[in-house]
Amino acid sequence: MNATGPIAEIGVSRQQAVCRIEIRRPEKKNALTREMYSAMAGAIEQADADGRIRVIFLYGAADFFCAGNDLKEFQEAVDDPGPRPEQGNPFMRAISSAQKPMIAAVTGPAIGVGVTMLLHFDLVYAGESASFAMPFVNLGLCPEAGSSFLLPRLVGHQRAAEMLFLGETFSAHQAREFGMVNDVYPDGEVIEKAFSRAEKLAQQPPESVRLTKSLLKRSASDAIADTMREELFHFSQRLSSAECREALAAFFARRQPDFSSFS
Ligand code: COA
Repeated sequence: MNATGPIAEIGVSRQQAVCRIEIRRPEKKNALTREMYSAMAGAIEQADADGRIRVIFLYGAADFFCAGNDLKEFQEAVDDPGPRPEQGNPFMRAISSAQKPMIAAVTGPAIGVGVTMLLHFDLVYAGESASFAMPFVNLGLCPEAGSSFLLPRLVGHQRAAEMLFLGETFSAHQAREFGMVNDVYPDGEVIEKAFSRAEKLAQQPPESVRLTKSLLKRSASDAIADTMREELFHFSQRLSSAECREALAAFFARRQPDFSSFS
């Protein structure tokens, strides 16, 4: 899966020195398909290489940030466990290796990769009613996007374990308390306020900003890449597990999953 050009579900535009990337799939709560990952990766890579761009800014259309990976695609992978791309998801690679600063504005729910992607962003702002959940275990899966390294490093082991084991939803204010969010703004203002942070950052000396980002990330970059490889291996295997099959069948049948017969 390589990065591709623009598609309708991913809006990409340049506003002065800021590249704006908008997730636009409201009918599916901004769940991400392979094609969307690829388009976002392409946008980030192009922005990183474009001398006119100094900051990358990501947000969700309407009042949903992102409902995670498209579960239909997970289900198709369950039914057809063919060869998987060895290098994993190009969006994960793009967000973990971007040299320019990345800012996210979270309006409404962020679920699964909608949260784990944020661990790679430099600044994250959330609306008052934004919420966060990482229900990978609930789906019979395991953490991804380097989150099994980044999350405990940020919030501590016990908190990370609780978030990942139980997949419970936490609020924007809790996310701020945990260090996952820089600031919380009224819902109707968060995109504008976060964008004004992007504009301010775009006025800083660009080389110094990029150097500072690389120094901040230097000590963790090998560990993140190594963790992502390990997670990808297990995640791919988990997609074919009976636990994951049951969780996905339950989601699309709008019923509670039943894991009582698994050992
Ligand atoms: N993948 C694919 N489709 C998804 C989706 C996802 N991650 N999240 C939502 N959708 C679809 C629903 O199937 C539904 O489609 P339909 O209208 O064709 O039936 C549509 O989006 C609206 O979702 P719905 O569940 O009816 O809305 P809701 O407001 O009741 O709940 C969510 C919204 C996001 C809380 C709920 O859809 C949900 O839990 N989604 C799964 C989140 C998840 O587990 N993501 C993966 C994490 S690893």
